[in-house]
Amino acid sequence: MADAVFYFTKLGSTGKTAKYIAERIGAEAVDLGTEPDADPSKYDRVILGSGVYGGSPSKNVREFAEKHKDAMPKISLYLVCAFKDKKAEEQLRKISGELGVADSIYFNKPRKMFGVEGSKLELYIDSLKKN
Ligand SMILES: Cc1cc2nc3c(=O)[nH]c(=O)nc-3n(C[C@H](O)[C@H](O)[C@H](O)COP(=O)(O)O)c2cc1C
Repeated sequence: MADAVFYFTKLGSTGKTAKYIAERIGAEAVDLGTEPDADPSKYDRVILGSGVYGGSPSKNVREFAEKHKDAMPKISLYLVCAFKDKKAEEQLRKISGELGVADSIYFNKPRKMFGVEGSKLELYIDSLKKN
């Protein structure tokens, strides 16, 4: 089974997280910044990562979602954002609804969770490995 983590990053955090998740689950990391026309239908499973800027995902991620509308209900989204708790949950719900993804999660400072057993990121990776 071929998996891929598609991502867009401005400041680097979503990108580093995409590469980390991809390495841990044996997936390909696909940068929508350099490969905006990459085709998600080539993969059995797609995870999509975006930073949040002004309450929205990046333009590249929105364009990706519009272009691949039919694939979105099978895609798992992660957001990297500065908000936490209730504000982050609300932001996640809004963006997930707009993009039409299957499931979604947010990470605040994900790089601090790399390799930290029991952290939200590591638990997410464990759940991806099981599916
Ligand atoms: C211009 C700008 C706007 C931002 N707006 C939000 C926001 O609305 N909500 C939020 O939770 N974080 C916001 N952030 C924080 C970013 O989501 C956070 O820095 C994240 O790591 C960005 O992902 P990246 O490092 O992959 O670019 C903003 C950051 C910048 C620079």
